[in-house]
Amino acid sequence: MITILAIESSCDETSAAIIRDKKVLNNIIANQKIHEVFGGVVPEHASRAHQQNIVPVIDMALKDANVKKEELNAIAFTRGPGLLGSLLVGTSFAKALALGLKIPLIEVNHLQAHVLAHFIDDPKPRFPFLCLTVSGGHTQIVLVKGYLDMKVIGQTQDDAVGEAFDKTAKMLGLPYPGGPMIDKYAKEGNPHAFVFPEVVMSGYNYSFSGIKTAFLYFLKEKTQENPNFIKENLNDICASMQYALIHILLIKLRKAAKDLKINEIAIAGGVSANSGLRTTIKELAVKENWNVYIPDFQYCTDNAGMIAIAAHYKYLVEEFSKQDIVPLARMEF
Ligand code: KG4
Ligand code: ZN
Repeated sequence: MITILAIESSCDETSAAIIRDKKVLNNIIANQKIHEVFGGVVPEHASRAHQQNIVPVIDMALKDANVKKEELNAIAFTRGPGLLGSLLVGTSFAKALALGLKIPLIEVNHLQAHVLAHFIDDPKPRFPFLCLTVSGGHTQIVLVKGYLDMKVIGQTQDDAVGEAFDKTAKMLGLPYPGGPMIDKYAKEGNPHAFVFPEVVMSGYNYSFSGIKTAFLYFLKEKTQENPNFIKENLNDICASMQYALIHILLIKLRKAAKDLKINEIAIAGGVSANSGLRTTIKELAVKENWNVYIPDFQYCTDNAGMIAIAAHYKYLVEEFSKQDIVPLARMEF
């Protein structure tokens, strides 16, 4: 029986999970409310909140799973990418615990973990598959050939799509995090009410900074004409922007699937919680003959369950880390 404690602290969620023989027993997540006041994640506050949360969250995960520290076979943690101060909290805690218990330490790449979240529950994608990883910090198309055999074949050259969602919301005066707010108002709006210019990059790459700037100028112009423009059109604005962002995402995913002749398609990361994206990709799947895999909501945004499943596969091949390991704000795979 292999039991692993996994810790995630890359951004503004402090999370711990216990995995036993490939089964994720729990997934405890402490959200940091402090950032709402500032309209975005403040790195300094995030590190402090992780320091406050980490012991209670890990205690809760162990108690809930009825697992004693002495029963653990390894400690896993997110090495990066993420906010350095936040990563340091999880890394230091994991190192100390592994050292004290004399058990292996397993580093996990946060983005690989988002992809591997698909192996927590059924149905599971078959290799090779394409994963569109869409989060607050990343937008990637990943070719996944094995649990630990992945290649990024396309990615954003500037902003991440989650950032585009969050900045759009901020410009509209909506609270942080903005993505779920856009999603909420878009449900009641007309996606074709307004058209925003979509920048199409070469290959499978993305760019979201142009549409963000275009949105800013669009709002400036419209609110000059009518100061109540946002209030009167909020649903339609959100629906139209969400439609454009999803459209940009899916053009490239479709191209990659066609070129590589792959019909196993997955989405992962915080933005995969978006109801518009979930519905549109399911509709596209019918047309393109894809098998589509969408994670459970709790495994879309940052969580330790995904770190735990990644750690499980690393444990099987004994991919352990040394005690001198340091977190990395930027980390490739
Ligand atoms: O994966 P994640 O939790 O953190 C990072 O690794 O960045 O992703 C967070 C991002 C944020 O930009 C948030 O606004 C976005 O995911 N997000 C959404 C939704 N839920 C979360 N974006 C659009 N619609 C949603 N329902
Ligand atoms: Zn993430």
